[in-house]
Amino acid sequence: MAKRKTIRRSTGSEAHYEDGRYYDQAYRRRRHDVRFYTDLALASGGPVLELGVGTGRVALAIGRAGIEVVGVEPMAPMLARARERVGKFPRATRNRIELRKGALERLRLRRTFPLVIAPFNVWMHLYTREQIERGFATVRHHLEPRGRFAFDVLLPDPASLAREPTKRYRGGEVPHPRDGVRYRYSEYFSYDPVAQIETVMMDFEHPDDESRSFCTPLTQRQFFPAELEALLHYNGFEIESHTGDFKGAPISAATESQVVVATLR
Ligand SMILES: C[S@@+](CC[C@H](N)C(=O)[O-])C[C@H]1O[C@@H](n2cnc3c(N)ncnc32)[C@H](O)[C@@H]1O
Repeated sequence: MAKRKTIRRSTGSEAHYEDGRYYDQAYRRRRHDVRFYTDLALASGGPVLELGVGTGRVALAIGRAGIEVVGVEPMAPMLARARERVGKFPRATRNRIELRKGALERLRLRRTFPLVIAPFNVWMHLYTREQIERGFATVRHHLEPRGRFAFDVLLPDPASLAREPTKRYRGGEVPHPRDGVRYRYSEYFSYDPVAQIETVMMDFEHPDDESRSFCTPLTQRQFFPAELEALLHYNGFEIESHTGDFKGAPISAATESQVVVATLR
């Protein structure tokens, strides 16, 4: 792995979001959360603020359901892909979807929303306590007094966090939309137990040309459930629900995503 071209940036996750088409391909089967967020959007009546809108996977569904949505995203390639997708919609739908570039910590719009959402692990890209606090301040700034804040993050899996960093976990072949090549895909996992940050190195091995192989890191802050509840509490939120899936199941050892709906305290 050491010989491969490794793209490292300040937070270690940007490379994962540098190709919106690859992101859409990789997560094309992830649909179960879209209904959850769309139902919340319909119940709120809108408008909705989505923090970390990505390629618009959730925002576009909300816009199509007839609800106005503002999506904020710092990664230009993700935003470009979202704009490309929105551009294919009828004008009435397009007019309901506003996309803005920026990091959620610094966002200060002059309007409030009955619903703020951060779907699919966006909060796991807030790595320090200061960043997390700025994230919650952004939500407080934009929420209407009786508004709801909904987001999901992975449930830390102790067995997974204890994985040997040099061990290769092989996946299958992955056709990359950038060049159509079928790369041999593997992952390596490492965990910093003090910062509570896991790094997944996604290794794409070119079948014939080693120089075209590459790795992309994905770093994610881990949130243990009681810690998440404390963070929400001490940042001015009351938890309406904290479940182990998008249908309301309790959190258990089998949980993949913790799903939180909170209000202002
Ligand atoms: C796993 S994607 C989820 C995207 C979208 N919400 C979805 O459900 O498909 C995480 C997104 O969070 C974005 N992100 C990372 N750090 C961010 C920050 N500080 N502010 C806003 N978005 C951020 C990433 O660029 C990426 O698009």
